[in-house]
Amino acid sequence: MRALASLLLLAASGALAAVPAQNALEPHGVQALAIHDLWRLTLLVCTLVFAAVLAAFLYAIWRAPRSKEQTAPDIAVLDQPEPKLHRPVVIGMAVSVVLLLVLIVADFVTERRLAHLPLKDAVRIEVTGHLWWWGVRYLDDEPARMFNTANEIHVPAGKPVILKLNSADVIHSFWAPSLHGKKDLIPGRTALLHFRADKPGVYRGQCAEFCGFEHALMAFTVVADPPEQYEAWAARQRTPAPAPSTDLQKQGLAVFMRSTCAMCHAIAGTEAGARLGPDLTHLASRSMIASGTLPNTPQYLAAWILDPQRFKKGANMPATPLSSTELNALMAYLETLK
Ligand code: CUA
Repeated sequence: MRALASLLLLAASGALAAVPAQNALEPHGVQALAIHDLWRLTLLVCTLVFAAVLAAFLYAIWRAPRSKEQTAPDIAVLDQPEPKLHRPVVIGMAVSVVLLLVLIVADFVTERRLAHLPLKDAVRIEVTGHLWWWGVRYLDDEPARMFNTANEIHVPAGKPVILKLNSADVIHSFWAPSLHGKKDLIPGRTALLHFRADKPGVYRGQCAEFCGFEHALMAFTVVADPPEQYEAWAARQRTPAPAPSTDLQKQGLAVFMRSTCAMCHAIAGTEAGARLGPDLTHLASRSMIASGTLPNTPQYLAAWILDPQRFKKGANMPATPLSSTELNALMAYLETLK
């Protein structure tokens, strides 16, 4: 068992090398760029202030009286009235006020830049935070064009995206650092976040509000596709899952329906319609499983189904006891969910 676990971990380190980095210092969208510029200015100002204070401190030590008689003031000195403000103190206060004003103005300008994203033809997506995964629903004026997915959000590069953020349980926070700032998901109210990914790419995101035991394993992926590729992806996601064609796949669907799977998950086109866990209609099209925890390979998927707690302690998904024949059939079926 232990050997299997280490083998899996080894495979994971290789597979996870393909997982995109999450880096707030590499902006790939207008929102992230505005925040990055503000961050750089703040860092510059704080570094200068820190250096100046340190220099003044060292200068004061250097200039301090060294003789023993001068270190202990007598009572007569303490009784004297407060001395007037020294010139360096006045200069220090004035400089602080000016620097703080600069930062306030920069903050205001950044807020304006963040708000100033043209939202014409924006893609609208509803994201719901759950302990510990992300429900994703693509909205549309035509209900037939809406669809559900989970943990992996595709967007067209160069186009604005409006996210409607909700939570099903506790407070989470949605943050893909290369694309936009953090936004909290608060139960009972809807928050709006908009962003634009300027270049095609794969960006990692992470829940940024401590929400319980597996907060660290509540990640997601934003895939910015070239627009035509995005349209093709969305068209495929809108279609229900293909009906199983081989006997093995049919047995797999039967296993899915009679085991605990169907009590929590939905697969469009089948009778499974529960919404307690991630929608699995196009599971095989996603690069990761368990909310960015594991690469979506048959080995990991099987290991996850048998014992999720091994990878994500406290996850709401229970272990699913299946015989190897049942698991085999289930895997054959899940692989068709492209
Ligand atoms: Cu959800 Cu932290």
